[in-house]
Amino acid sequence: MSTVLYPGSFDPFHVGHLDVVEQAATLFGSVVVAVMHNPDKPSGALPMEQRVAMVKSSVAHVKGVSVEAFPGLAVDAARAVKALCIVKGLRTPADFEVEQQMAHTNFAVSGVRTVYVPCTPAFSFVSSRYIRDIAANGGDVSSMVHPSIVHDLTSALNRRK
Ligand code: PNS
Repeated sequence: MSTVLYPGSFDPFHVGHLDVVEQAATLFGSVVVAVMHNPDKPSGALPMEQRVAMVKSSVAHVKGVSVEAFPGLAVDAARAVKALCIVKGLRTPADFEVEQQMAHTNFAVSGVRTVYVPCTPAFSFVSSRYIRDIAANGGDVSSMVHPSIVHDLTSALNRRK
């Protein structure tokens, strides 16, 4: 069994992310989900504590998974938890372009490697960005996030309530 780090902003955590966690837990046995800041998304729609709580609730049924907020660099979080590698999910070729550059950069500066898992095709269209948009406008996001967070997510983001 090895520990791996799955970093992301998870703003919010959705069924595609859960699929990656489940695959990583099956492959490696132990997964630390690192809730992090993405400098390309400066503010974040949900506060960090709420994102962590939603990830915890969404992965509660998966054995060998823990969830923590980490400041700073993903490679430092990976070293802090003694992770074998970073795990990322790939939905589309566009994801690959972004992730490949990050993976090479992370390896160049730290020696920490990245392993990709392919997202289950049924979830390949799911994105946090559209979930935020739909929830903010009072739409139904229940098919894209874990049932345990639908209520809190909708109340946190809905601008029409
Ligand atoms: O879910 P996201 O927003 O695609 O996740 C991006 C994230 C948080 C994994 C990425 O922005 C990240 O690794 N942030 C931590 C800061 C860091 O390590 N920057 C160097 C990247 S090469």
